[in-house]
Amino acid sequence: MIEDLLHGLQVFAVVDNQYGDTGKGRLAQAIAMYSDINARGTGGDNAGHTVFVDGVQEVNHILPVGIFYDGLGKKTVLGNGMVINPKGLIKELNRLNTIDKSYNNLMISEDANVIMPYHVARDKAVNHSLKKGGIGSTGKGIGPCYGDKTLRRGVLIRDLFDRDVLSAKIKKAAQFYPEQEINVDNVMEYLAPYAMIIENFACDTTTFMQKSLRQGKKIGIEGAQGFGLSIDFGTYPYVTSSDPSIIGTAAGVGLNPSVVDLTFGLVKFPFMTRVGGGPFPSELGGIDGDMYCRDTTKTVDKELSKHRIPFEIVGGRVKYDHAHPKIMGMMNSKDPLVRSSGIRLVGEEFGATTRRPRRTGWTDGVIGKYANLINGSMMAATKLDCLSGIDEFALCLGYNIDGKEVHDFPRDSAVLRRAEPILKRYKGFGDITGVRKRKDLPGSLQEAMSDYERYTHGKFLIASNGPGRDDNIMC
Ligand code: IMO
Ligand code: MG
Repeated sequence: MIEDLLHGLQVFAVVDNQYGDTGKGRLAQAIAMYSDINARGTGGDNAGHTVFVDGVQEVNHILPVGIFYDGLGKKTVLGNGMVINPKGLIKELNRLNTIDKSYNNLMISEDANVIMPYHVARDKAVNHSLKKGGIGSTGKGIGPCYGDKTLRRGVLIRDLFDRDVLSAKIKKAAQFYPEQEINVDNVMEYLAPYAMIIENFACDTTTFMQKSLRQGKKIGIEGAQGFGLSIDFGTYPYVTSSDPSIIGTAAGVGLNPSVVDLTFGLVKFPFMTRVGGGPFPSELGGIDGDMYCRDTTKTVDKELSKHRIPFEIVGGRVKYDHAHPKIMGMMNSKDPLVRSSGIRLVGEEFGATTRRPRRTGWTDGVIGKYANLINGSMMAATKLDCLSGIDEFALCLGYNIDGKEVHDFPRDSAVLRRAEPILKRYKGFGDITGVRKRKDLPGSLQEAMSDYERYTHGKFLIASNGPGRDDNIMC
């Protein structure tokens, strides 16, 4: 059980060792139940963390999933490093009202930056569309907001409660966003109802975190995005605008990374995904796979319709049989593009935030090894059960670049684009749902896990093997 791993420890974090979407919500949920405080420190509503609450699927973009345990008196902290869209936040709080969950113990850092409407508009116009030369951002205003933060002109949460400061900052912003006719009064009016609610929760979370640490409170930290998307470590410029490594994540909740007793670096295994632009050496179908996913209209319902796979829409969400024979057939196709589509459907790899189809490929040890250098070497394998029934799979254990073998992650995205994956192939495996011990896994999967550990100098502590809270393999 996960409690055994956390026993005697005080601060734990869940971060992502790939390019996002490794199933952080699910592990964060397990940890949240064990923690007194659950905090998030980076990004904003570019994230999409999916969990099941009382059997119903919930997707949080801003609030850590620990919020669902507010009723047990657990505190939820939106840390100083976050960028918060007030409208999006209130939408999430309203969802909690709808499902009758409390949020009395929510704390929002006064120091966090506010995503303003002009940030969203700029991001949508400049960064979102790959076709128009953007990096394929989520279009949520993340880049412009962190940009203003770095340029020392951002609007902070605390500014929402001071009319003079707020209007002065918006007036100044009008100058920097000339393509938009920013009307100060309109923006103020738009923010006012949200600010009234946020004011109830805004406080100095950094001091709170430091005090809680000294008092011995258990702290769970929910990372967002992924290591490869880090502004400091990732595939610049195809990155987000914060550092989702354990360093940025801890800083973003007001803590020194060295106080984190255990960091789980999440590794989707043995396939992984990436959304938006940027190099992805182990991508199935290579450039064709990338091009295919650039068509953002290929949402899950469209993909299912195209292949005549039945689905229903329940509560606005698409429901279908992930192990439908047609999907299995696609997953085992010899055509990498078809295989990629099959894996996308098996794992339901479509953006929780943007609905975009995620690019798929084999799990890449080179970025994994790099991530372990910074995030520590304790790892969690996720979505292990997804490829149940696959005929063969592979891991990327090295790159071939311009005729040379490379095992250290190249920092230059242009170089990385030329990388050919060095693949090790493994026999496939049947249905592994219900397996609870690593030694009971099919031999090829055990071998692949050991190879990955050896290659990345890491250690798997746990592997998630199904959507349920207890569907875990202790490693
Ligand atoms: P979670 O927490 C996957 C990606 C975007 C884009 C790049 C920059 O759910 O794992 P941004 O909007 O942040 O400026 O976009 O980063 N990206 C994510 N991809 N999961 C996420 O979050 C992501 N957050 C940002 O697709 O390529
Ligand atoms: Mg995501």
